[in-house]
Amino acid sequence: MKRTVLITGGAGFIGSHVVRLFVKKYPEYRMVNLDKLSYAGNLENLKDIESQPNYRFIRADITDKVSIRNVFREFGVDSIIHLAAESHVDRSISSPMEFIQTNVIGTTNLLNAAVENWTGDFTGKVFYHISTDEVYGSLEDGGYFTEKTAYDPRSPYSASKAGSDHLVRAYHNTYGLPVLLSNCSNNYGPNQFPEKLIPLAINNILNEKSIPVYGKGENIRDWLFVEDHANAIDVIFHKGKKGETYNIGGNNEWKNIDLIRLLCRIMDEKLGRPPGDSEKLVTFVKDRAGHDLRYAIDSGKLKKELNWEPSVTFEQGLSKTVDWYLANQEWLQHVLTGDYEKYYETQYLSR
Ligand code: NAD
Ligand code: TYD
Repeated sequence: MKRTVLITGGAGFIGSHVVRLFVKKYPEYRMVNLDKLSYAGNLENLKDIESQPNYRFIRADITDKVSIRNVFREFGVDSIIHLAAESHVDRSISSPMEFIQTNVIGTTNLLNAAVENWTGDFTGKVFYHISTDEVYGSLEDGGYFTEKTAYDPRSPYSASKAGSDHLVRAYHNTYGLPVLLSNCSNNYGPNQFPEKLIPLAINNILNEKSIPVYGKGENIRDWLFVEDHANAIDVIFHKGKKGETYNIGGNNEWKNIDLIRLLCRIMDEKLGRPPGDSEKLVTFVKDRAGHDLRYAIDSGKLKKELNWEPSVTFEQGLSKTVDWYLANQEWLQHVLTGDYEKYYETQYLSR
């Protein structure tokens, strides 16, 4: 095998798309997916590639030193793409400690393992940390986040991701660890857990349940199709300059309420419902505490230096996403009933 790449959080939403892309595109790489299978980790996301000879799954927690050391020893890991995280802002408001544990302690544990195992020879090694645009705070007065924007995290989630970003840069500066970082805007697409806005709304429209829109629905997010994020990760992993950060965004800003209206239109068409039918489900609810107003990414550096561009428009991506959820209602049911957690037992523990 040409390389052994440890992907953390590969059973989650974005991670599963990255795993699939790499397993298929690079048969000469051994891909080791390490995931603790929290509520957000779902091995059903990877059914189509789980039997590939260059793929291995390990159930482990990134905060567990012994497991991480064993994985380094067993597989001779030379590259890491680190996605494992607690990722939902609302959960971070109700349970901040879990975010500190995984995002800060877990990341530091992985950094220590990389330094310990690679010490003396960092040739051909890379620690690629996947982060979010939310570390930059909220854009209240226009403008865009660039790689030089000062950090100003405002939720326990974004603060824990900011902490992990700082630690990754500190290990580069202090120990010479070859690192890469990217900070991406909001992702959407197949396999996203229906606690996040778009899949939650798709599920509620499908089942004719009310769509909860926080506050007045005026908050703005910059949306990127998940496969475009996975492609950007591929480009940065292979061509990014060590020590550098790259912002990734869709150049695609939407107010939440406009996005929900577009989604309602698309779903009415696909479900053969009369125009305007699903929009009646919109319900304005109490706002999120400390709700960031606007995120918007300037991804000019990535475009200019590494020649990356998003490949789908929002309308195309949203239409593909709705089609996926409509065609995969069994996946959705398993997630909603918790049955997806049984998949690991039947697929992996009974062998
Ligand atoms: P997700 O919540 O869907 O998946 C996270 C995965 O990490 C799950 O499979 C979970 O089981 C695993 N995990 C959690 N804690 C773990 C631990 N302690 N040890 C091992 N595995 C653990 O998240 P996602 O949306 O796919 O996000 C992936 C990464 O991308 C995160 O680092 C997130 O901060 C970042 N990101 C997400 C977005 C977005 O819009 N979703 C945007 C930018 C950046
Ligand atoms: P979310 O998908 O949770 O991502 P993030 O908070 O990381 O941006 O939320 C996207 C936007 O949608 C955010 O402004 C909060 C809002 N939102 C709702 O209005 N209703 C909902 O039910 C959810 C989950 C989010």
